[in-house]
Amino acid sequence: MTEPLTPTRGAMKAGDAHLQAYFSDETERRALTQAMFNEAASGYDSAEALTALGSGSWYRREVLRREGLKPGMQVLDVAAGTGLVTAEALALAGPQGRVIALDPSPGMLAELRRKLSCETIEAYAESIPLPDRQVDFLSMGYALRHVGDLDRAFAEYWRVLKPGGKACIMEISRPASRLGRMLLKFHIGVLVPLLARLSGRHADVKRLWAYYGDTIEAAVDPETVMSALRRAGFSDVRCGVTLGIFREYTGTK
Ligand SMILES: C[S@@+](CC[C@H](N)C(=O)[O-])C[C@H]1O[C@@H](n2cnc3c(N)ncnc32)[C@H](O)[C@@H]1O
Repeated sequence: MTEPLTPTRGAMKAGDAHLQAYFSDETERRALTQAMFNEAASGYDSAEALTALGSGSWYRREVLRREGLKPGMQVLDVAAGTGLVTAEALALAGPQGRVIALDPSPGMLAELRRKLSCETIEAYAESIPLPDRQVDFLSMGYALRHVGDLDRAFAEYWRVLKPGGKACIMEISRPASRLGRMLLKFHIGVLVPLLARLSGRHADVKRLWAYYGDTIEAAVDPETVMSALRRAGFSDVRCGVTLGIFREYTGTK
């Protein structure tokens, strides 16, 4: 299923100032991230395994399970990419369930379809081509920093969820301490490129991982994310944190 993509020209959020070297408006951001993810698609899973900044299949499944993804549920995985969250959602929803994977990058979705059998939609979080009240559970893994307009995306999450449905957003946050930030920068900027070069996958993901380091610096703070979820209408909005950087934001419709 392929739907037209409608850019939100001009929408920029707090933190994007750190990324001005890369783009100056939402249209440029979308062009850049599309190009980077298409280019990195085939090397994404191995690079992700090296960085563990996702942090692996076990963690993704554990978050979904803990937040209530159950057999038989209708699930939308936003920013599905190569399907690292989608695969875990499929396993938890089981044969009676239905999982739809949404992502704007044709390259990432092509990788997903090579591994998984589920419906895919080429679209942005801010404009989801699904009717109202379609899904019981909406997941998003490690893509919030690429969304220019949180209010628009969360309004869409609210719209497509059934009453009682849950949104569950995994994201990395900027470490609070200077030492934590230095260690993370070293991990992303030095250690990971070295390991990627040794594994022979450096060229595919080089540009994406350089950008990644800077997006963590530009990450929106947890209170801003939670306020945006509340503004969209979500109740029982929470933010769990593991190891000081792995966040899971949840809200119920
Ligand atoms: C780091 S990957 C995450 C993939 C997967 N969820 C995971 O856990 O590994 C980020 C994905 O977000 C997608 N993306 C970027 N901007 C987006 C937007 N505005 N709405 C939805 N997805 C977006 C990219 O195409 C990319 O596939």
